[in-house]
Amino acid sequence: MRVCASGGATGRREAYAKRGRPMTNHRVYIFDTTLRDGEQSPGCSMTVEEKLRMARKLVELGVDILEAGFPIASDGDFEAVAAISREVSSVTVAALARACALDIERAVRALDKARKPRLHTFIATSDIHLKFKLKKTREQVLEEAVKAVELARRYVDDVEFSAEDATRTDPDYLEVVSRAVVAAGARTVNLPDTVGYSTPDEYGALIGRMVKALGPEVVVSVHCHNDLGLATANSLAAVQAGARQIECTVNGIGERAGNCALEEVVMAMKVRRDRLPYETGIVTEQLYPASQLLSELITFGPQPNKAIVGRNAFAHEAGIHQDGVLKERTTYEIMDPRSVGVPESRLVLGKHSGRHALRDRCEHLGYSLTREELDEVYRRFTALADRRKKGVSDEEILQLLQEVVPRRAIAADD
Ligand code: KIV
Ligand code: ZN
Repeated sequence: MRVCASGGATGRREAYAKRGRPMTNHRVYIFDTTLRDGEQSPGCSMTVEEKLRMARKLVELGVDILEAGFPIASDGDFEAVAAISREVSSVTVAALARACALDIERAVRALDKARKPRLHTFIATSDIHLKFKLKKTREQVLEEAVKAVELARRYVDDVEFSAEDATRTDPDYLEVVSRAVVAAGARTVNLPDTVGYSTPDEYGALIGRMVKALGPEVVVSVHCHNDLGLATANSLAAVQAGARQIECTVNGIGERAGNCALEEVVMAMKVRRDRLPYETGIVTEQLYPASQLLSELITFGPQPNKAIVGRNAFAHEAGIHQDGVLKERTTYEIMDPRSVGVPESRLVLGKHSGRHALRDRCEHLGYSLTREELDEVYRRFTALADRRKKGVSDEEILQLLQEVVPRRAIAADD
């Protein structure tokens, strides 16, 4: 790894330009931490090989920074960061380290082969963490933060500092620490809502203050946990206040209630460009494939009603909705499912469905019905649907059709 010679943060603009990514004021960088903050949560452990598979998908997805692990945490994490660093060349690879020499030097070794390494160092800054967890004074933490960044900058140009529990930190002290780490060479300052406690207005105000204090050469980053279900809203409020990096995970996996979901912030900025005029480098058609791969690698998938990638995100059961979607998809869909990589919307036939959707399904199954036949199939269908919690399957509809119109099946190619 190159030992950096120059201090100062101005090189970042040139670096982004060299990568063909002009640092416009509206470009928001996506820092994916699926393989670090996501992976460290229950049920989400991955082997080195699994992490590599996911890393390849994240590169296809177009993330800007890929946090590959926490090398001091285990040999497996070290090896995963090293393997991803060896293989991935187009994306910045980040490794996490506490603000101490042991962690930083191990992270530096893991990043040794990375073409674009980022050292991400952190220390908690809130009084509650200082008193009960670190048992350190504010002065000690300030000194350790600065020393950590200075040490990291001896090895790597691209250093990010995170003030853990920033949202419960005295804002005046947070500003002192943030200014000091920037003076020490940090280019990105991340202000996490570690415990998911903040609200959009409060977080936006904090971020706005820090963006102003740190100036345009520093990327202010946000990292929101979802304990109150506000991670996406908080991240977007922060972007509106000037943050230009969002730390997030596929499917929103992460500690406790998870991290901000990558697919949600990205699609909010794409679909509501009128209100959120920001750009990311994400290839949105890869969102669903990335979600599916992650579900295959860990022990659970997203909840069925999860925004963007859940099984029901583009499914319709209510008759009025099905009728609307059959006439014009945009009556009940704000996104084209194909824009996120979902092949098509799904009309689920259940007890809330109407004749329009049933007729449409019968036609797909090769049956063209008269009005009377449809009435009879519909009568039997509603009786069956009333007893079903999970909707009525195509096999069951075929069974009904064979009962009502045994000789009316038409071959699909008729
Ligand atoms: O939630 C948090 O504060 C973190 C930091 C280590 C960035 O994950
Ligand atoms: Zn976190």
